[in-house]
Amino acid sequence: MWGGRFADGPSSIMREINASIPFDKKLWRHDIRASLAHVAMLAEQGIVEAEDATQIINGLNQIAQEYEADGIAENLDLEDIHMHVEARLSEIIGPVAGRLHTARSRNDQVATDFRLWVREAMDMVDDALGSLQKALVDRAEEHADTIMPGFTHLQSAQPVSLGHHMMAYYEMISRDRSRFSDARKRMNESPLGAAALAGTGFPINRENTASLLGFDEPTRNSLDSVSDRDFALDYLMAATQCSLHLSRLAEEFVIWASQPFGFVKLPDSFSTGSSIMPQKRNPDAAELVRGHCGRIAGAMNALVITMKGLPLAYSKDMQDDKPPVFEAHDLLGLSIAAMTGMVAEVEFSGSRMRALAETGFSTATDFADWLVREAKLPFREAHHVTGAVVSLAEEHGCGLADLTLEQFQAIDGRIHADVFNVLSVDASVASRSSYGGTAPDQVRAQVARARTALGREK
Ligand code: ARG
Repeated sequence: MWGGRFADGPSSIMREINASIPFDKKLWRHDIRASLAHVAMLAEQGIVEAEDATQIINGLNQIAQEYEADGIAENLDLEDIHMHVEARLSEIIGPVAGRLHTARSRNDQVATDFRLWVREAMDMVDDALGSLQKALVDRAEEHADTIMPGFTHLQSAQPVSLGHHMMAYYEMISRDRSRFSDARKRMNESPLGAAALAGTGFPINRENTASLLGFDEPTRNSLDSVSDRDFALDYLMAATQCSLHLSRLAEEFVIWASQPFGFVKLPDSFSTGSSIMPQKRNPDAAELVRGHCGRIAGAMNALVITMKGLPLAYSKDMQDDKPPVFEAHDLLGLSIAAMTGMVAEVEFSGSRMRALAETGFSTATDFADWLVREAKLPFREAHHVTGAVVSLAEEHGCGLADLTLEQFQAIDGRIHADVFNVLSVDASVASRSSYGGTAPDQVRAQVARARTALGREK
């Protein structure tokens, strides 16, 4: 079927497979910024005459205005964004444009542009994650005293504070931010001046362009500089892990919004109706956040596989580095925004959560602990006695707190009336006051630490 395509002529097929402009046009601001730094340095070093540099700078600024106003007229013959800018520059200022490409190559140029883009992407993600954390902390504070079932194996295990549950996600997002910030520190070096692969004989000043572009220093090895895409991989790996966290939270919302749970009512703004079932309110946004994680992980995988086995230095395979990063960034940005909105606006049903927290003998551990502490039983024996009490309650179809003291004492004579103090979910949650535990005061302490970390005391 595609064989017929060859009738287009090999040159047209080559033009199409070779061109990256359809996607790398996203880099135009970074390309122009890097060129402005490069030409300023060339002038300062006396490699290009000051008047020529001025013409080039004016031309580049004009191109920026044109692109801003009208977008970019794509021409596959001009391959990529670098050639588009250069071609337009020569239309505007004539042959002087040709001096811009002195002492550089598209190889160090694209490495520089893409780093600038990824660095900006990292900053945007960090910012967005800060807003998500803020939303989580706000809801955690509001719900420090709201009791919900805590699960292991998705089986009711012990009651916990909803605020505690929210703060668990705050912690995950903190680690995500630290991964992005580590990656940003590591990548903040300028490859500009590595030229094609071996450096250049012109007396360039790489420290100068590095600092003009906000990089900490120039990269140290020209071969590595043009063949390194670790910064993009770091971004994708951090993005994958972050979207994995978002997808876990999204999954909780999907489960919690289901009728058997009824823990939350998702905001209208993040739900959709069904075309045939009028009663439905589907958690589409949460489901898509969950789904997007697959695509982001796929993008990460794509670049890993593209880079695997490439010999030094640049190979054209590396042009394929951009689409997965661009795609992952769009998906991640949307996912973070959607989760921030859902967290901020979701309606929690405290009564429903409490009702379910009270089922499943969720305070059985508290009872066993009480036997150890107050009735001085060895834990193993306490565990056994608790088992018998749970069976009895199960037989009567009631909760532990609904058994009478006589019923308790028939199982073990050492049990006395104080036991009823530990059987409620409130007592259970309040008792877990170890550092980082679910007691509401501990949750408020977490919230306070988080607010300090976020630099915004309330
Ligand atoms: N469009 C290319 C890319 O994105 C730019 C570098 C081209 N270099 C080369 N030697 N053909 O990778």
